[in-house]
Amino acid sequence: MSVRRTAIVTGGGSGIGRAIVHRLGADGLATAILDRNAEAAEKVAEEARSKGYETEAFGGVDVSDRAQVDDAVQRVRESMGPALVLVNNAGIAEFKKFMNVTDELWDRMLAVNLTGPYYLCQAVVPDMVEAGWGRIVNISSSSAQSGQAFQTHYVASKAGLIGLTKAMALELGPAGITVNSVPPGFVETPLLRSAEERGFLGGSLEDHAARTPVRRPGRPEDIAAATAFLVSDDAEYITGQVLGVNGGRNT
Ligand SMILES: NC(=O)c1ccc[n+]([C@@H]2O[C@H](COP(=O)([O-])OP(=O)(O)OC[C@H]3O[C@@H](n4cnc5c(N)ncnc54)[C@H](O)[C@@H]3O)[C@@H](O)[C@H]2O)c1
Repeated sequence: MSVRRTAIVTGGGSGIGRAIVHRLGADGLATAILDRNAEAAEKVAEEARSKGYETEAFGGVDVSDRAQVDDAVQRVRESMGPALVLVNNAGIAEFKKFMNVTDELWDRMLAVNLTGPYYLCQAVVPDMVEAGWGRIVNISSSSAQSGQAFQTHYVASKAGLIGLTKAMALELGPAGITVNSVPPGFVETPLLRSAEERGFLGGSLEDHAARTPVRRPGRPEDIAAATAFLVSDDAEYITGQVLGVNGGRNT
């Protein structure tokens, strides 16, 4: 397809999402950054525009709020055309002993990491069905494959996202829409550095890198590359899959 495609990248204001915005921009897609943090979203949009990429920031959007999601997707549609690519990347993480997880913490984790992607998907799928083409990539977590102590609510939310991916792939395949998940493992971002600083990693990033088969932490660009492939025309026959990008920590 030669027309320019518009991709929504949630959480594009930081870390992995920021790298995805840059990579999709380099691949010729227009990107709409939906992020709760308006300042961060605008900063990344400016960076991307300075490289000549078409990018707009839609800041102050909380993916766990359906009205905000629907409003933002409509503004993207009006300004940049229908989003036929969706990358559900926005997420929160927290370390908590299982018995210290409260109902509020549980509900918030699921609202952002699982219900948010569900809202986004429902907002964009009608345009994809009309176009007969669509690509959805859900950024989950290697912890949903391996389990992770002190992250029960986080892991449950990300495992749910993988389930959503697989079920949607079966239902939407006939409409020309693929749905896949990329579970990152151990990628150096503000989120991971903050976990390290607070002593939740059980060692430094460097200790973990030494135990990783590829012998380095992941880079946001590693996740962006896998995402770029999955949203490309080349990946037309790949759907419902979980493509781990983790340096061999989980196989
Ligand atoms: N860094 C890792 O090692 C790692 C590992 C596994 C999974 N992940 C997943 O990758 C994704 C990106 O992680 P990251 O490390 O880049 O994190 P990050 O904290 O650097 O960036 C997350 C971005 O999401 C935005 N965001 C958070 N909650 C939001 C909400 N409710 N609505 C809209 N935007 C919101 C934040 O403002 C931020 O810009 C997350 O889903 C995370 O769970 C990361």
